Amino acid sequence: MWKGRFAKATADLVQQYGESISYDWRLYKHDIAGSIAHARAQVKAGLLTDAEFAAIETGLRAIEQEIDAGAFDFSIELEDIHMNIESALTDRIGAPGAKLHTARSRNDQVATDTRLYCREEIDTLTAHLTELQGALLQQADQHAAAVIPGYTHLQRGQPVTVGHHLLAYVEMIDRDKSRLADCRQRVNVSPLGSGALAGSTINLDRQQIADELGFNRVTTNSMDAISDRDYIAELLFDIALVGTHLSRLSEDLILWCSSEFGFATLSDAHTTGSSLMPQKKNPDVCELTRGKTGRLYGNLIALLTAAKGLPLTYNRDLQEDKEPLFDSIDTLKLALKVNTEMIADMAINVDTCLAAASDPLLLATDLADYLVKNGVPFRQAHELVGQAVAVSVQTNTPLDQLDLTQVSEHYGADAKDVFDLQTALAARTNPGAPSVGNVRAEVARWKKSL
Ligand code: ARG
Repeated sequence: MWKGRFAKATADLVQQYGESISYDWRLYKHDIAGSIAHARAQVKAGLLTDAEFAAIETGLRAIEQEIDAGAFDFSIELEDIHMNIESALTDRIGAPGAKLHTARSRNDQVATDTRLYCREEIDTLTAHLTELQGALLQQADQHAAAVIPGYTHLQRGQPVTVGHHLLAYVEMIDRDKSRLADCRQRVNVSPLGSGALAGSTINLDRQQIADELGFNRVTTNSMDAISDRDYIAELLFDIALVGTHLSRLSEDLILWCSSEFGFATLSDAHTTGSSLMPQKKNPDVCELTRGKTGRLYGNLIALLTAAKGLPLTYNRDLQEDKEPLFDSIDTLKLALKVNTEMIADMAINVDTCLAAASDPLLLATDLADYLVKNGVPFRQAHELVGQAVAVSVQTNTPLDQLDLTQVSEHYGADAKDVFDLQTALAARTNPGAPSVGNVRAEVARWKKSL
């Protein structure tokens, strides 16, 4: 494409080192859509005749179909998807193909393609996130009333329900979706027409191109437009944070599926065995999700690092944006799909959950609240209950079996009533708290909003 100025061909190793066609080929549909919009604007500017435009459009569509069918011959000598397509077009239709690149650079072209790609993938990820929320919601609905211990420091804290626990993830995923929607606003801007860095002496109708490609608006600084990769960094961060959420969910499920917890059982279809230990049923999907989160973080850091030292405007370092982006998108899409399926098929062992939640120590805080309701200042109530817990532990007597009236005059005969799990849960009616009524109301709200 630049042979005019050079006396020697590019070295093989340089071609190998610099090619991006092996991965950016997947931008082809966006590249072709961008080229057709660009060509249409050239018609409006009087640079192409209707017949030339028709030849370009037909030629590009034929190339698209060939790539769809896996029949297109990509060449690393042509470095990237943009030059592969342009060169194939000119081979096929001649002169009109050679006019296509007027008032355009690969710099604004690659920025356009990548934005179109990100926009499409944001929509796909959002749909997958909604499906995962749906699977969690269905389990939360079924187990809205299944009591389970809630933990802090991985020590039993207070009773909650499985529904409440799972809805916590529905909330996280909703914030993920809103972050993606916010990112989409900044993704959906048209850089085409920014040229290499300084626009062009040939003015095409940028707004027309943006409208055709479904962009919200055009970029307003050509130098920023072609060197901006913020939207990719944002998307990679949003994906990394989804990874954090999925990884935490994975860790919960790994614990729940252990013999020590026994709260949940994953389907045989979503677990694996051991080549040596015949009894094993391993939660590999959860472990892989937890592990792959590391890649998602790595991809974000790779892009931030590649961009941080670059003077304006385009530098070839920016070609390093695509592999992390593609990897994070691919990794997350599959993670969301497999986790959705796995959660939909998961069984909750409600009896085991209830047995674990029936430890009376989980209601020690409720006992302190009881004392508060009898006029004891909370700090003193906390200490009194702490003393009772110490006696319970020392004498190996469950807290609800102690004669509390012996421990302090502040306990009445009704202190024992505190240890009714259903009453304890039912009392937690404040917004966001896990009374079964609240959890059911939240399930209903989510069902409506999803
Ligand atoms: N393959 C390149 C990339 O992905 C396309 C842009 C090349 N621009 C340039 N000035 N060499 O970044």
